[in-house]
Amino acid sequence: MGGLPKPRVAILGTGRMGSAAARRLSALGFPLTLWNRTREKAQALAEEIGAAVARSPVEAVSQAEIAAAYLADDDALFSVLAGIRRMDGLVFVNMGTNTPRAVSNAKNYVTGNGGCYVEAPIVAGPRVLQRGEAVLIVAGEKTCIAQASPLLEALSSHTVYVGEEPERAQALKLSFNLLLITTVNSLSEALALAESYGIGKDVVKELLSHTVFRGIAEKYVDRATSDPAKPASFPLRLAAKDLYYAVSSAFDRGLPLEGVATVMEKYLRAVREGLGEADYTRIYWLDRKEKEAQETSKQG
Ligand SMILES: NC(=O)c1ccc[n+]([C@@H]2O[C@H](COP(=O)([O-])OP(=O)(O)OC[C@H]3O[C@@H](n4cnc5c(N)ncnc54)[C@H](OP(=O)(O)O)[C@@H]3O)[C@@H](O)[C@H]2O)c1
Repeated sequence: MGGLPKPRVAILGTGRMGSAAARRLSALGFPLTLWNRTREKAQALAEEIGAAVARSPVEAVSQAEIAAAYLADDDALFSVLAGIRRMDGLVFVNMGTNTPRAVSNAKNYVTGNGGCYVEAPIVAGPRVLQRGEAVLIVAGEKTCIAQASPLLEALSSHTVYVGEEPERAQALKLSFNLLLITTVNSLSEALALAESYGIGKDVVKELLSHTVFRGIAEKYVDRATSDPAKPASFPLRLAAKDLYYAVSSAFDRGLPLEGVATVMEKYLRAVREGLGEADYTRIYWLDRKEKEAQETSKQG
């Protein structure tokens, strides 16, 4: 990136991921305009990093060469896009996790309004993104990717290119997330079974650390079993959304994904049970809660 002037970037959505991206870009000297549905959050971040704040998505992108979206879901993406009519000279980079169907429509909308479209879902959490070490799955036309490259390079240590169609990037992102989330759920159930026979998590961790599951044990055993009130890096409600998106986009291709559908039901139940804002690894606490409820009902 050298000494070239940095393009102005509009950050749409200053939640966990949008804030992390903004902090990284600001540290590298990118001029930024922030927009968030809840304006106070964008305002607080802008004061911290010295960025401009826009009152609307259209105002945010009006001076920018790159718009980067970090929005919760398909509804959020469309409600933001619908407010932006003209996109001449702009490259819109969607970095949230969405359905393949939604991003295919988003690309048509952006290109139909004169903009360039890049899909770049993130395989990393906010801390890694803020260090500029995320893995990105990238789809788009080469000219659009070239226009977005200062942003993509600033945020990533590796990109996986999957072709021009944005739906391919989200299909791969959802494939990865279903593997990650169902693995974390299996770990949680393995811990619950061992514990029900009096075997503590440290013994489970010791065993796993001598097997193919070593990396999983090191990264997730303590995180899953820690207090569900601790701040989430990836909230459980978004993991439930991703499983739902994986199942529904597989359904579009005639695939049942029955195992994932069962885990999705469990995550949706966890959201109803009040664990939506807990970290997604704390699905472990749903197993605990349900076991305790069963024991209480037996005693009663
Ligand atoms: N956290 C992770 O580790 C992680 C990793 C990879 C990918 N992702 C994906 O990245 C995206 C953002 O995740 P996050 O962790 O940053 O989530 P988050 O902290 O919950 O932030 C969500 C953002 O979406 C906005 N939003 C929600 N509904 C909206 C609507 N209807 N209209 C306009 N804006 C709306 C929120 O605005 P308000 O502040 O007004 O609510 C906020 O800016 C999601 O698609 C997520 O699946 C997350």
